[in-house]
Amino acid sequence: MTGQPRLKLALMGLGRLGAIRARILTFQQPRIEFVAACDTKPGAGEWAAANLPESVKFYADPEDCMKNSGCEAVLISTGTATHAPLICLALNLNLHVMCEKPISVDVLTTQEVVAKAASKPHLKFLVPFSRRYDTSYRTVKKMVENGELGEVHAVETACIDKQDPSGFFVTFSAQSGGIFVDMGIHDIDIGRYFLDVKNGLSNPKKQVNRVVAMGQQVVYSELTKYGDADNGWGMVEFANGKILTTHLGRTLMNGYEAPTRVCGTKAHSLIGANSVMNRVEIRDEYGVRTATTPDAFMLYDTSFINDLEEFSGAILDNSPMSCTSEDAFEAAKIVTALQYSFRTRLPVYFDDNGLPIMEAVEVNGSAKEKA
Ligand SMILES: NC(=O)c1ccc[n+]([C@@H]2O[C@H](COP(=O)([O-])OP(=O)(O)OC[C@H]3O[C@@H](n4cnc5c(N)ncnc54)[C@H](O)[C@@H]3O)[C@@H](O)[C@H]2O)c1
Repeated sequence: MTGQPRLKLALMGLGRLGAIRARILTFQQPRIEFVAACDTKPGAGEWAAANLPESVKFYADPEDCMKNSGCEAVLISTGTATHAPLICLALNLNLHVMCEKPISVDVLTTQEVVAKAASKPHLKFLVPFSRRYDTSYRTVKKMVENGELGEVHAVETACIDKQDPSGFFVTFSAQSGGIFVDMGIHDIDIGRYFLDVKNGLSNPKKQVNRVVAMGQQVVYSELTKYGDADNGWGMVEFANGKILTTHLGRTLMNGYEAPTRVCGTKAHSLIGANSVMNRVEIRDEYGVRTATTPDAFMLYDTSFINDLEEFSGAILDNSPMSCTSEDAFEAAKIVTALQYSFRTRLPVYFDDNGLPIMEAVEVNGSAKEKA
């Protein structure tokens, strides 16, 4: 690649996702020069020294990293609560930004960040929803575009994690925004991706008519105090008449399952219907068995190669990106409305400006949503 321009990029956050990102940046991104990594937690420098190439400079302070590493772009893979301030800091320093979902757990902050990114059109801003970068979802998208499924009128998804005896997500719930906001954003995004939600609108600002959600705490009763569920069901009626349903869960015993059914008038297509880890079948006294994909992290490799390739291509070649700021904002509005609907047991309608109509709700002593 000598002589080819490469994008100088710094990675913020070396946690579960950041470690995968660091490996991909090191070995699988020929158009990116991985110049720096940053993490504020104690011990992160030692981890970086042991696991990253010597050429990657470690910083414990994000502002120092963004100002002094020579990076032109940042990939923000930190905890959700830090996304909005880090995005704004990077944009103020004239850096291109790619940030893991979600921008924030509240709609107003998301709106402010999206507006800030829009005010810097010379900078690329990408929140990559991973399913849009997965080859199976892309194959079905082509089938939809070619009309092979007929008129696509509904999408049904499920996303169910393996039960985690440590109950990590129970304490995580206080910051995650809840199961609809944290987990469901992928399902909402993929529904929007297939349902052509901007087409056939009488009011272009309003993409959604109403949402309704229900949920349970079947294993983790402590979630009640965070206004959260370990199983949740959401329905979204888009303004063009298309319907999305989703079942989100944290209590599966065999592994991780995330099937998506795209319903068309000529055909249905199913992605990930049987979440097998490989093609091996065991035939024994229990019957015919396959191993299940243990968690979502196993599926990220291809998506994470594709989204980083797209981000660097967008900056270096001005090529188009698969997700826009509007996609991040629209998905954020819907998941926040679903979480609100679950908490209040009420349907949420969207107004003519496309905003969900919600009052502030008290959850664990603090207001969680605003209209
Ligand atoms: N498919 C997906 O798109 C997907 C999947 C999983 C997680 N996520 C998102 O990715 C993000 C990271 O998830 P994770 O599971 O890796 O979390 P994590 O808690 O394992 O890691 C976050 C890391 O960021 C570091 N950090 C926190 N604040 C920082 C700051 N200001 N500057 C630098 N470093 C900081 C922490 O010390 C930690 O090491 C979350 O927002 C999550 O919602 C996206």
